[in-house]
Amino acid sequence: MEQVAGKVAFVTGGASGIGLGLAKVLVSAGMKVVIADVREDHLASAAAFFGDSGHRADAVTLRLDVTDRSALSTPRRRRCGHSARFICWSTTPAWGSADR
Ligand SMILES: NC(=O)c1ccc[n+]([C@@H]2O[C@H](COP(=O)([O-])OP(=O)(O)OC[C@H]3O[C@@H](n4cnc5c(N)ncnc54)[C@H](O)[C@@H]3O)[C@@H](O)[C@H]2O)c1
Repeated sequence: MEQVAGKVAFVTGGASGIGLGLAKVLVSAGMKVVIADVREDHLASAAAFFGDSGHRADAVTLRLDVTDRSALSTPRRRRCGHSARFICWSTTPAWGSADR
């Protein structure tokens, strides 16, 4: 996991379940994580978790529906910086129907 420290991960469906678990592992490994999810309530819970555990600066939440193709390019530019440091994981079933 040393190779990923300092890099940025973008986890769709990241505010609950498998995605949230992945986000926690990645933050523990030293990554910055953008947690993208369609559910505001899940995002609020995830933000509270990372804030309470001392990782407020390591996890950014973003409301995003991965089936909305036009919404997918915006967070990468605005939140994740340049793409060389950008790694993407997906956990939602919706991703399979979205163009990359
Ligand atoms: N949990 C398991 O043991 C398990 C096992 C095998 C497969 N799966 C599959 O993996 C997937 C995730 O499972 P989970 O347990 O983490 O589910 P979950 O419901 O806990 O988490 C999924 C997250 O994805 C978000 N989401 C749903 N649609 C979205 C969209 N269009 N855009 C952005 N975010 C969206 C939800 O709001 C939720 O926060 C599901 O398809 C599930 O069937 C889960």
